[in-house]
Amino acid sequence: MTYDFYSDTKTKPTAEMRRAVLDCVVGDEQQNEDPTTTDLCSRVASLLGKEAAVFLPSGTMCNEIAINVHTDPGDEIICERSSHIINFETGGPAAISSVMISAIDGDHGRFEPEQLREAVRPSSRHAPTSALVCVEQTANMGGGAVWAPEKLQAVAAEATAAGLKAHMDGARLMNAVVKSGIAAPTHTNGFDSVWIDFTKGLGAPVGAVLAGSEEFIAKAWRVKQRLGGAMRQSGIVASMCIYALDHHVDRLAEDHALASDLGARISDMTLVERVLPVETNIVIFDLADAAPSAAQLVTKLEADGLVVGKFGERRLRIVTHLDVNPIAGDHLIDRLSHYIDA
Ligand SMILES: Cc1ncc(COP(=O)(O)O)c(C=O)c1O
Repeated sequence: MTYDFYSDTKTKPTAEMRRAVLDCVVGDEQQNEDPTTTDLCSRVASLLGKEAAVFLPSGTMCNEIAINVHTDPGDEIICERSSHIINFETGGPAAISSVMISAIDGDHGRFEPEQLREAVRPSSRHAPTSALVCVEQTANMGGGAVWAPEKLQAVAAEATAAGLKAHMDGARLMNAVVKSGIAAPTHTNGFDSVWIDFTKGLGAPVGAVLAGSEEFIAKAWRVKQRLGGAMRQSGIVASMCIYALDHHVDRLAEDHALASDLGARISDMTLVERVLPVETNIVIFDLADAAPSAAQLVTKLEADGLVVGKFGERRLRIVTHLDVNPIAGDHLIDRLSHYIDA
């Protein structure tokens, strides 16, 4: 038995989720003829407080399509330095949309509206045009940090005042909603586009939904088609996303509770230098110099049937989700303390 704490993307669809597929009505999604996908999109649009939405195979495609719609070649987009867009999308903004990226050094993946103001370039014949700001709710590499909705709205207002569009990477927005107890539209208000991922804490095998105005989604559809993201009988996977919306949102609180417990126990270990504040389902921690390296620990834990992520020479990441539980957590703590607690 292996417990995989590498990411919440590692969840496998539950038996009930798989059963939800059997009776779903399907059609040709590319022709807007898949009722299950249409239903999913209208549910997500209303959940996020937006006019319309489009179903996509992945969150990465949501980010890249949004960037493409909101910018022209030669523009500059503004992201926090640890963001997924900068670090994990294979240079997509440059390769797909021919835009530059300006990075803000934030606080656990978040930044201040004033930092955005400083990053926006004054209009000039010589400079790239600042066109778009992107935020991540929650901030993955910030340790699952949650932006306060007021801060998000201040960033969106700053963007609008400077003539920029605002985009939210909401891969784990529902974690922020559950954690804060504040409904999604209060987080997304003022953002021109936002998406949620179904393949993370929500536990579905495929799919993300990108939302925005009718006009934005019409343009997003053109880019989706161009990139080959249009699907056919996508209700097969959309039905599992609908199941996740109905059954896997509230339970994110369990993931948060487990992560918080693990974070507290790890911070007590002698050879741990620091644990990033644990706000949702992600625990990122740094090993002291006297500890084995992150790579060595990953190997040792793997032999114990435990998978964790190496995110630096001395940095490890643990993510809680549907397929791990407090028993798995106890096992992880037991083995970790064997290696890094004197
Ligand atoms: C913050 C964030 N954005 C975007 C993505 C990309 O999502 P996907 O794996 O669905 O492409 C991830 C995936 O881990 C993520 O953590």
